[in-house]
Amino acid sequence: MDDLLWWQRGVIYQVYPRSFQDSDGDGVGDLAGIAQRLDHLVSLGVDALWLSPIQPSPMADFGYDVADYRDVDPIFGSLAEFDALVAEAHRRGLRVILDFVPNHSSDQHPWFLDSRSGRNSAKRDWYIWRDPAPGGGPPTNWLSHFGGSAWEWDAASGQYYLHSFLKQQPDLNWRNPAVRGAMEDVLRFWLDRGVDGFRIDVIWLLIKDDKFRDNPANPDWREGGNPRDRLLDLYGGDRPEVHEVIAGLRRVIDAYDDRLMIGEIYLPVQRLVAYYGEGGGGAHLPFNFQLITAPWNAGTLAGIIRDYEAALPPGGWPNWVLGNHDQPRIASRVGPAQARVAAVLLLTLRGTPTLYYGDEIGMLDVPVPPDRVRDPAERNQPGLGLGRDPQRSPMLWDTTRNAGFSSGEPWLPLGATPSVAEREAEPDSILQLYRRLIALRRADPVLRGGAIDGVAAEGSVLRFRRSLGEQQRWVVLNLGQEPAGVTLPAAALVFSTLPGRATGPVGGRFELRGHEAVILRGDA
Ligand code: GLC
Ligand code: MG
Repeated sequence: MDDLLWWQRGVIYQVYPRSFQDSDGDGVGDLAGIAQRLDHLVSLGVDALWLSPIQPSPMADFGYDVADYRDVDPIFGSLAEFDALVAEAHRRGLRVILDFVPNHSSDQHPWFLDSRSGRNSAKRDWYIWRDPAPGGGPPTNWLSHFGGSAWEWDAASGQYYLHSFLKQQPDLNWRNPAVRGAMEDVLRFWLDRGVDGFRIDVIWLLIKDDKFRDNPANPDWREGGNPRDRLLDLYGGDRPEVHEVIAGLRRVIDAYDDRLMIGEIYLPVQRLVAYYGEGGGGAHLPFNFQLITAPWNAGTLAGIIRDYEAALPPGGWPNWVLGNHDQPRIASRVGPAQARVAAVLLLTLRGTPTLYYGDEIGMLDVPVPPDRVRDPAERNQPGLGLGRDPQRSPMLWDTTRNAGFSSGEPWLPLGATPSVAEREAEPDSILQLYRRLIALRRADPVLRGGAIDGVAAEGSVLRFRRSLGEQQRWVVLNLGQEPAGVTLPAAALVFSTLPGRATGPVGGRFELRGHEAVILRGDA
């Protein structure tokens, strides 16, 4: 093998629990359902599953509003079922990563109920309460990620509380040591149950400006854009003091063997890489969302890969993500043919790949009629394209009723793309492609851990080299639909997205078909 850690060598797979597999016919996925489908993950070849939140929640934001950090919501199952899932996963060599949502709780959490009970509550300072601005109105101009002011007026106590998201998601005060202590105990609770790591929700937002300064206007904002981007969020997050808080969380995790800490972070690359922390004491993997947020063309992606690699701190391990429950699906963004090229890119770049459930069968965003919209991001600001229901549509397993997802009415409409069973039967399907790529990566120390260089764009073609000692791999991807002539080094073609492409020696002028990506193997 190599001396990489499991999460450096491995592939992470995100499960959105509501939408993976329903076991009890209520139309909502659950833990027992996930346990039934673990063999799919094994056959795909991934190493870890990350579960979006499963804790008790009023579901105002579908689990990202936690009312009890130490239990499982009955809609998903019980702690006993969680333990069984972890045991089943571990038996198959799969790690389990939990979502941890520390920035805010539900407004129904006992901490907030107490905090809201009055200015003298012992938990008052667990949340962020402020007097009105001198002339009246909200204390700052900060905007909620889900529309409107980030401040909610509490008439009974005559103060506002901060909610970076819904008003049902009050922000906790991470400057308060008691909050930090309580939350660190929550991590221990789950670590003691055997979880292998956490994906920490909106980690860059944990600390807000100590002076509560107003955010400035964003000069680049245009009419029709996300209303929240009218302001540059300089003060609602990414404050210098956040790194000490994160280092504290990391110390808790490091007291256990071999656990992983991922941070969800939407920031430009120079700020993103600060989340590896001083001396590497921050997140192991600050999520790198650039393949989601950047325009999909060879020139832009080449620049992104080079800049990201150059920005990484010493020892900082890279990672790449194509999709998640907040973002339009890759196959909808770049088209089904190009989604195959995207799979090659994700699985051959240097660093840990994270896959979003359903992307391995080429699922598309599923349009949701207005009367079935569930996501508050859409309900609060309809028609702006901010809704996330389309990418949360249930997994398509087979051709039986409700695609094998549920015996009851699914909580969101189902898509019409081929199911796992159909992709299984289709030669060269995207599912087979994902399996081949993951197997190739798993078997190849160069793709897993080798250096990357030679990142370049030529027309629609993106290329780079991976190398380890004398061994080299070239990855050449056509991001366009037209054929593209390229000059390849003398090497052996070992992989192509194009069915029927002959493997074996190549070199010199070569024609890549539209939407074709190839991997070559050579020796120095
Ligand atoms: C993160 C989650 C998103 C959630 C938000 C508030 O961005 O990924 O789904 O709505 O945080 O918790
Ligand atoms: Mg269910």
